[in-house]
Amino acid sequence: MDKKFIVWTIKGGDGKTSISAEIAMRLNLPIITNEPYTTLDLIFNEDKLLQLKKNEVIPFYKNQGIVFDFGGYIDSRVIEALKQSDYVLVPTIPEISDIQVLINSILEIQKYNKNIIVIVNKTENDTDVEIVKKAIGQLGSFPVFEIKKSLSVTNRNAFILQEIK
Ligand SMILES: Nc1ncnc2c1ncn2[C@@H]1O[C@H](COP(=O)(O)OP(=O)(O)OP(=O)(O)O)[C@@H](O)[C@H]1O
Ligand SMILES: [Mg+2]
Repeated sequence: MDKKFIVWTIKGGDGKTSISAEIAMRLNLPIITNEPYTTLDLIFNEDKLLQLKKNEVIPFYKNQGIVFDFGGYIDSRVIEALKQSDYVLVPTIPEISDIQVLINSILEIQKYNKNIIVIVNKTENDTDVEIVKKAIGQLGSFPVFEIKKSLSVTNRNAFILQEIK
């Protein structure tokens, strides 16, 4: 698999790292993050994880699949990763303030990449996905996936931490 994925949204805490880790594990891809503090180093060995330093530019990997776990406001590195990627995965939780940030994130992303997939994370109600779909309807038509709120995500993280001790 030589596809590049970026998981990005301006909003923090909506599932970027969890989703990035899941994709990288399932597809056996290396992962690059712009976050100075990450839990990814608990899961991935050094040869699979590149944690960018403050002003380190993104290397261009030809014919190499990658997952970018990127957070924060749009800067030159986020733009570069958006341009390099085949798929842009944008997570949100079904809360009104997060959905507003989702809309702003999509508007930014569309300037650089049109291949957008929205992931509604931590859903608890049947209507959660519909609410998000309705809110982003006027921006275009995107595939929308759902990840239910699950204790297992938190349990798994707790388990990993326990293993390390
Ligand atoms: N589907 C889910 N169900 C339950 N908990 C979840 C789910 N997805 C993520 N979480 C939890 O939500 C928290 C935030 O998730 P995560 O760290 O992946 O988000 P992030 O966007 O990378 O956050 P940050 O902006 O801090 O980098 C974590 O504690 C994670 O375990
Ligand atoms: Mg993160």
